[in-house]
Amino acid sequence: MTDALQHLKRNSTPAKALTEPAPSEAELESILAIALSAPDHGRLYPYRFISIRGDARYRLSEVFVQATRLRDPDVDPAYLAKQREKPLRSPLIVVVVAKLEESEKIPEIEQMLSAGAAAHNVLLAADALGYGSVWLTGDNAYDDHVRRELEIAAHEQIIGFVYLGTPELDIPPRKHPPVRNFLRSWG
Ligand SMILES: Cc1cc2nc3c(=O)[nH]c(=O)nc-3n(C[C@H](O)[C@H](O)[C@H](O)COP(=O)(O)O)c2cc1C
Repeated sequence: MTDALQHLKRNSTPAKALTEPAPSEAELESILAIALSAPDHGRLYPYRFISIRGDARYRLSEVFVQATRLRDPDVDPAYLAKQREKPLRSPLIVVVVAKLEESEKIPEIEQMLSAGAAAHNVLLAADALGYGSVWLTGDNAYDDHVRRELEIAAHEQIIGFVYLGTPELDIPPRKHPPVRNFLRSWG
């Protein structure tokens, strides 16, 4: 496999193994410029990004705690502590928000796929700059309180919390099944 292809074979880094430094503001702009090059039927750019770094992560941590308590007032304290810890694991979080618009021509599924491709481009671009990343969702991504606090509009959906930073571990490449399991020639 060529080096160029090898580079595209990325791996996620566990969020707690992502440390400082995070991509700088200028690097984040470059990463998001790659995100914007995702395939996009109708050039709708059906997504936006929210960057959360530094002290803002503590605010997000509180929001996750409040949301967890609202979901379950009798929540197990150990689970609550895990929720509190989540945004503090990595130095930078990029929230990827799909922004679907009603369109006669471009079905919502296509807009969502475009947003997903943009999110994946964030991972690839971060990797190319030497940063690690992981795309996570979980209950908080679909939670009304989190949505309110992050000012997510009715036609929008959080499709990922992308955690970014410098990997402090060498992650062994994940083994995948053989390509032939996924491919049939036709005709
Ligand atoms: C939309 C989406 C949401 C995800 N949410 C989670 C999550 O909440 N928790 C988790 O452990 N992995 C989640 N993953 C999977 C990880 O991002 C990652 O791909 C997986 O751990 C496999 O690792 P790899 O990317 O190194 O192959 C999600 C992936 C996608 C595409």
